Amino acid sequence: MPFSKRHVAILAAAALILYLVRSLDYSSPAPQSRFGDHAAATQPPPYTAAIVYLVSVLPGPRNPDQLLESLPLVQKNIPWRYQWPVLLLHAGAYDTYESRVNFLDRLRESAQRQELTPDATEKLIKRIEFIPTSHELPAGIPEDGGTDRPVWDLEWPAYHHVCAFFSYKIFNHPRIRDLTYYFRLDDDSHVHSPTCFDPFEYMHVNNKSYAFRREDPDLGWVTVGMWPFVSNYAQRHPEVEGRLNHNGWQWPSGRFWPNNFGVAENFRSYETNFDLVKVPRFRTPEMTAFLDELASDPKRFYWYRWGDAPLRLAQVYMFFDVEKEVHEMCEMPYAHKDSVWDDCDCIPLAD
Ligand SMILES: *[C@@H]1O[C@H](CO)[C@@H](O)[C@H](O)[C@H]1NC(C)=O
Repeated sequence: MPFSKRHVAILAAAALILYLVRSLDYSSPAPQSRFGDHAAATQPPPYTAAIVYLVSVLPGPRNPDQLLESLPLVQKNIPWRYQWPVLLLHAGAYDTYESRVNFLDRLRESAQRQELTPDATEKLIKRIEFIPTSHELPAGIPEDGGTDRPVWDLEWPAYHHVCAFFSYKIFNHPRIRDLTYYFRLDDDSHVHSPTCFDPFEYMHVNNKSYAFRREDPDLGWVTVGMWPFVSNYAQRHPEVEGRLNHNGWQWPSGRFWPNNFGVAENFRSYETNFDLVKVPRFRTPEMTAFLDELASDPKRFYWYRWGDAPLRLAQVYMFFDVEKEVHEMCEMPYAHKDSVWDDCDCIPLAD
């Protein structure tokens, strides 16, 4: 019947118009959101990250003056794409509410002295997380080790806790182990001038696993036994031996002689007061097996004072492809204590 056909056609046209109008309505925000920072900022970042400071390892308060200098520079001089948390790992210094409030008040004052904008100051304050982290003497290490004359008895055992923590424990820390990246700085680290990229973005965009700022050897008397330890491990793990060779690793002389291999020889080290790490690369089964073996004899840290600086370099050369995965981040203007390190031109990351 013509009439009802026309009726159907009108209804169909009306439905179509209604549909178009509604879909126009729904779609109107979409073209806008394809432009500009807003859309980028609302997408979840493709990784997670944190800045890490180990601010105390023994119970009790700790003078924060240096830390209060270091933190505002990190906020001011690095163009952060995302405001990742700043983790202050402490062994009791910030257990009380008053101590935390007092610290944040002083941080605001320090940020103002360093001429951060009010906005940058508030961003920094919001990033701070106080993370209680305790450090125990391992079984077999006597409480009076300090009087028992370990190789290095200065700052015993605080410094030794720091070395053990950064050498292997950090990769199992509950607040850190699930991150993609962490960036360790020390309270005497200073990003003294502006740099042109966010270091985590650099790692992500360039698919890097480790970035250091400078290499400097650790002396033979604080690396007693480290050369034979690494050598024996490589002999028992041919894939490690192969990677060391691929990375151009050099041994001191006499590797296969029965005695004295590596005695008093310095050990190459990354200066780990700047330590930028892709965490999953330090949690692979083969790295974990190595870290477990490293931890199996606590005298290495608590007696011979092995440091995380040479061990980090050994880990990287044993398990990574150095040329592909490691970056010397000279683009970041940096001073440690009072010494300003050489830097290089910073090339902004492509968007
Ligand atoms: C990124 O690096 C890892 C090693 O860390 C490698 O296995 C992977 O293939 C690389 N990805 C790309 C896209 O190059």
